Amino acid sequence: MEQKTIAVLTSGGDAPGMNAAVRAVVRTAIANDVHVLGVRCGFDGLVNGNIMPMDLRSVSDTIQNGGTILQTARSPVFMTEAGQMQAVEICKKYQISGVAVIGGDGSFKGAEALCKHGIPCVAIPGTIDNDIACTDYTIGFDTAMNTAVEMVDRLRDTTESHNRCSVVEVMGRRCGDIALETGIAVGATCILVPEIKYEFERDILNRMEFTKKTGKHHFIVVVAEGVGRVSEIAQQIEMHTGIETRATVLGHVQRGGSPTVRDRVIASQMGVQAAKLLQEGIGNRAVVMRDAKILHVELTEALKMKRAFNHNLYQIAMMISI
Ligand code: F6P
Repeated sequence: MEQKTIAVLTSGGDAPGMNAAVRAVVRTAIANDVHVLGVRCGFDGLVNGNIMPMDLRSVSDTIQNGGTILQTARSPVFMTEAGQMQAVEICKKYQISGVAVIGGDGSFKGAEALCKHGIPCVAIPGTIDNDIACTDYTIGFDTAMNTAVEMVDRLRDTTESHNRCSVVEVMGRRCGDIALETGIAVGATCILVPEIKYEFERDILNRMEFTKKTGKHHFIVVVAEGVGRVSEIAQQIEMHTGIETRATVLGHVQRGGSPTVRDRVIASQMGVQAAKLLQEGIGNRAVVMRDAKILHVELTEALKMKRAFNHNLYQIAMMISI
């Protein structure tokens, strides 16, 4: 029987742990006598035939590194019908029978488009944002938060020395998960997330005043990037409270760095699952984590799901982070 060939790519914003997922796809395929190709620079690489053979050693010494050895891109050309047809031609040329796509919701949509054109794809959630509805967890979330927490802990030192307020913006696009969990982990007085419309008086001023009355003189306000400009929020705080306030945008530093154990292990499990599906010729699936189990669901259905914000965790934060 002819040896099967599958491909793996990373797409969208990179996330720590993507390398562990690539490594798991490659090694699972090889263990099962499946030939495996690495596609460089996301869907762009599929459109342009930017493809390389992978072997056991191509993924050596990668699990501990952030970024992605395959590199990544957001591909406008692949969003066009012509781009997708070109990618299908490349898949045929390389006899690719299935593609593991590691990325965020945009990448999931790309994988679905390729499936519709007859190329089986399995999507693996890889984004620091944790914003994919079908899964409890996305690769990179834990590392990004650990980085954010380390940075805010540093900010706290100087904020406390000066009796100031620090307003810190974390990433997450339209999702407040990074802000919520980072906010809890650093004991932020206020946590602003896009899922809950904030009221300046109720959610910032009153909480700061209460905290001050009980003897605290420095304040951390964690803001998800989807909420608004931290410089403006900081200005408003200083104007209304008279407390010296500084704004900090953590930015892309949150996307880099060595993945945590959690990210390495979950990415490995997800990569294995994706390769197994593809070697069986199964596509249009998304690998997900639910209740701490690695499962897979139909990709088209997964894309229709709406993400639920953890209001319970938010209430906990509001009660104890004061
Ligand atoms: O999706 C990951 C993410 O880092 C978001 O948190 C952020 O909004 C966006 O990507 C930034 O994108 P770019 O790398 O294109 O600036």
